[in-house]
Amino acid sequence: MSTIETAPQPLYVLTDVTRTYTGKGRTVTPLTGVTAEIGAGEFVTIQGPTGGGKSTLLQLLGALDRPTAGSLVLAGTELSSASNKELGRIRAEDVGFVFQGFNLIPTLTARENVAMALVPARTGPAERAARVEEALAHVGLADRGDHLPGELSGGQQQRVAIARAIVKRPRVLLADEPTGNLDEEMRDEILTLLESLCAEGLTLIVVTHDSAVAKRAHRRLRLKNGRLNAV
Ligand SMILES: Nc1ncnc2c1ncn2[C@@H]1O[C@H](COP(=O)(O)OP(=O)(O)O)[C@@H](O)[C@H]1O
Ligand SMILES: [Mg+2]
Repeated sequence: MSTIETAPQPLYVLTDVTRTYTGKGRTVTPLTGVTAEIGAGEFVTIQGPTGGGKSTLLQLLGALDRPTAGSLVLAGTELSSASNKELGRIRAEDVGFVFQGFNLIPTLTARENVAMALVPARTGPAERAARVEEALAHVGLADRGDHLPGELSGGQQQRVAIARAIVKRPRVLLADEPTGNLDEEMRDEILTLLESLCAEGLTLIVVTHDSAVAKRAHRRLRLKNGRLNAV
């Protein structure tokens, strides 16, 4: 007897996503109709001009914001109509963020910075401690948990930020210019780390200006004039 194979559901399905900012008599519409699918386990880069809406799109993908119009479905949940509580749960459990400037809290150790990510999910203290050590080991910083960000190199700080993102065991990692503040050697180290996480099943969506980063993606997209297209 034959079985009917159903195609795996994409992680993200975006249909005509629009985002308009209004205020002080001025209206800006960085996204005018973004339609795309992103599969689980893909490594996708998004390039495009400054002011083109890349960060706006990442915020929508990360449930930090809702589209003005259109449909944005993450793992079967329609984010444009989800409640604030549901968006909060998605941010706490499903999405990890990494930024260009690392965004670590300077007065907290690496270990404490990573642990912060589990506060919204209310992970208990024992499990939290175990997962933090696991995440630090995963990024090659098992022996640096006691260090403050200022005592670490840029590449190491970004590793801590990646540990903070993956300690949630998210479905997707959203990164906004994650190698923008790093020299070439550290950039390549971070890319290799991100690729190894992707090989373990994590979906990667990376905004970048660096074609050396984009060259390593499975799929390259460009956001221009409010729309997302293949490069
Ligand atoms: N919170 C906001 N309020 C008003 N305008 C915004 C806001 N965030 C971004 N914008 C505007 O939206 C456009 C796209 O910005 P952004 O998504 O940051 O672009 P990119 O990341 O590609 O440089 C810009 O014109 C920017 O000024
Ligand atoms: Mg930006």
